[in-house]
Amino acid sequence: MTPGDGMARFPRARPRRLRRTAALRELVRETRVEPSDLVYPLFIDDRGPARVPVPSLPGVDRLSIEAAAEEAAGAWRDGIRALLLFGIPDTKDARGARADHPGGVIQRALPALREAAPDMVLITDVCLCEYTDHGHCGIIRDGEVDNDATLERLAAQAVSHACAGADLVAPSDMMDGRVGAIREALDEAGRADVGILSYAAKYASTFYGPFRDAADSAPAFGDRRSYQMDPRNAEEALREVALDVGEGADLLMVKPALPCLDIVRRVKERFERPTAAYMVSGEYAMIEAAAERGWLDALAAHREAVHSIRRAGADLVVTYAARRLARDRGDA
Ligand code: PBG
Repeated sequence: MTPGDGMARFPRARPRRLRRTAALRELVRETRVEPSDLVYPLFIDDRGPARVPVPSLPGVDRLSIEAAAEEAAGAWRDGIRALLLFGIPDTKDARGARADHPGGVIQRALPALREAAPDMVLITDVCLCEYTDHGHCGIIRDGEVDNDATLERLAAQAVSHACAGADLVAPSDMMDGRVGAIREALDEAGRADVGILSYAAKYASTFYGPFRDAADSAPAFGDRRSYQMDPRNAEEALREVALDVGEGADLLMVKPALPCLDIVRRVKERFERPTAAYMVSGEYAMIEAAAERGWLDALAAHREAVHSIRRAGADLVVTYAARRLARDRGDA
């Protein structure tokens, strides 16, 4: 509807009437963010002290299993209902042996988190880059990431997480066919109840930089452009998502978030599935860095960002600021 097809014009139309008081603004508010719309990522480190701050992610720590359990209980009290877990193993090797080891960090963390926050939705990142010494998301053969050899490893990792108590597994590797391979392996292992949150449209983004500091997962050679998507493409994202839906993805994720609001909207509208967007480490760090200089208010910026992502159509937002936002009451 435009002025001219029956819509009032100025001076009859005065949009400011509905912005006059806080209560009026609240009455006509179109988008809300509840703590239960937020997913809180945790880095669980098998090597070290309880809490080690990540310099490029102010306010984010690498946690021991015990500290992660405390964080989970606190997050539950703040209203957070889902955690996304990243493991940092004690040792790394070429095939990521610790990724699917029953004594691995995620496998031991899951029961501890379950005890600390029994009803929390526990989502595990499924990918090899945190576990390989070369930092790539898969098995290297002849200097390249071998897609089909990687699928087996990812399926084993997913089954191992499911058996240790994950509610959902979240493959973030971008190998072709991984959702199908994981679904089949879970079903065969008797874990048909465990769902898949697929990083369905994941771009080769420069905004993952601080994450790689946190997880020590920067690739030792080359980059991830032979498996993650070119940020110049949108139709390709829709094809990627369609494949994952066909292979059995239960929830879809777009990543990064703010640079991809167009993709979030198109994925939500086309596939009509629960859709998450991951506001990644670099997106968080930009806000924190500007705030450190006194250039903007970090909490207000995080709040505006998650509302924008929800407005674009995301049901869920993964953000390192989840706990701070869940406690935030300053939205009037
Ligand atoms: C693992 C993975 C990455 C992120 C989530 N899962 C790193 C990458 O792909 O390089 C990035 C998350 C963030 O930047 O916050 N593959």
